[in-house]
Amino acid sequence: METDFLIKYVRGREIIDSRGNPTLEVDVVTEANVLGRASAPAGRSRGKYEAVEIRDGSKRYHGLGVQKAVKIVNETLNSLLKGRDVRLQREIDKILIEYDGTEDKSRLGGNVLTATSLAVAKAAAASLKLPLYKYVGGSNAHILPVPMFLYVCGGKLAATDLDFQEFNVMPTGAKTFSEAIQMGCEVYHALADILSKKFGKYSLNVGDEGSLSPPKVDDPNIIFESILEAVESQGYSGKFVLALDAAATHLFNSMSGKYRFRGKEVDAGELMEIYIELAKKFPLASIEDPFHEDDFESFAEITRKLKDVQIVGDDLFVSNIKRLKKGIECGAANTILLKVNQIGTLSEALDTAAYAMRNNYSVLVSERSAQTEDIWLAELTVAINAGQIKNGAPVRSERVAQFNQLLRIEEELGSAAKYAGENYRSPI
Ligand code: PGA
Ligand code: ZN
Repeated sequence: METDFLIKYVRGREIIDSRGNPTLEVDVVTEANVLGRASAPAGRSRGKYEAVEIRDGSKRYHGLGVQKAVKIVNETLNSLLKGRDVRLQREIDKILIEYDGTEDKSRLGGNVLTATSLAVAKAAAASLKLPLYKYVGGSNAHILPVPMFLYVCGGKLAATDLDFQEFNVMPTGAKTFSEAIQMGCEVYHALADILSKKFGKYSLNVGDEGSLSPPKVDDPNIIFESILEAVESQGYSGKFVLALDAAATHLFNSMSGKYRFRGKEVDAGELMEIYIELAKKFPLASIEDPFHEDDFESFAEITRKLKDVQIVGDDLFVSNIKRLKKGIECGAANTILLKVNQIGTLSEALDTAAYAMRNNYSVLVSERSAQTEDIWLAELTVAINAGQIKNGAPVRSERVAQFNQLLRIEEELGSAAKYAGENYRSPI
């Protein structure tokens, strides 16, 4: 019956994320009692142009409670969305965006918009008896992404002396997604061994996303060398490429106009040289946020200078189509990091991704440093045939949940499944 698809109620609740902080979970229930449930992830290394999160700011949970967000869902959104058809995703997202009415989504909150919008999509998919990736992506959703595994962290995401935030790898030489997972796990454990032998047992402490933490190392060269050693030790030479997220916004000192690097301050030109040297020395295929979030010019320069390298805009674009357009106009970066809660709704994220692809920018779908066990991220990555997913280390349940879902999707797609492999920037 058509009325089966109508929303009976929307309900929010406070749950916790992988950092032990509260986050919002939303249930959308239809008249046929079909449930769509989704939760919002949370960043720590946030860009200033991201959608604002609604947090309580009261004593409980160090100010991070989301009871206000729950109230918005239970009162405002419940009455706004009750009786609407869950299949009308764009219409519902439009209602949410218009009701919010702000540029930074500060009335309803990026966390409220993301959890609600995805819960609606999940309710529709479940009502239509389709997996989410097929509901969102249609019958052509078939690309299994190259997983960008995070092995070592610095910056805001781990207690190490490394300035650059993330040292990632991509098993581009795997034949299937499941082989990529196997390779990524084997090398992670080999690297744990190598780092603990070289830098002591505290290397085995893990950061926010399950990354390893070698103490007293501040030289990125040493990390990349150790990673390549681990890759070789497993017989995978040439089958992995390296990827860096400098998260340079968080190294930038606006007073001096320089970046913190290994106990000194360097200017944009010197930082550029550091990247160029790393790219010469290592199979470095991807660099995210090499400069701070307002420096479109340096982004354009590095994109020109390192032609073969994927230059990713995270804090630069914040998944926002307007900022992406500005980047495309001046040639800043060639890839967008896609984080739904940076912009708000699923429809906006899909628009940004489509616009990027149409302009020959690649799309790297990304987790946040705090996630839940919700697997919409894995589904979205296949839905848009993105070709690559950034999802932390292959340990800790909130990361593993995504990888395992992708393994299931690969199995379900059977012979239609295609691992992006070396074509991760342009998988179709
Ligand atoms: P997050 O950042 O902590 O905001 O999720 C991770 C990243 O910079 O990619
Ligand atoms: Zn980043």
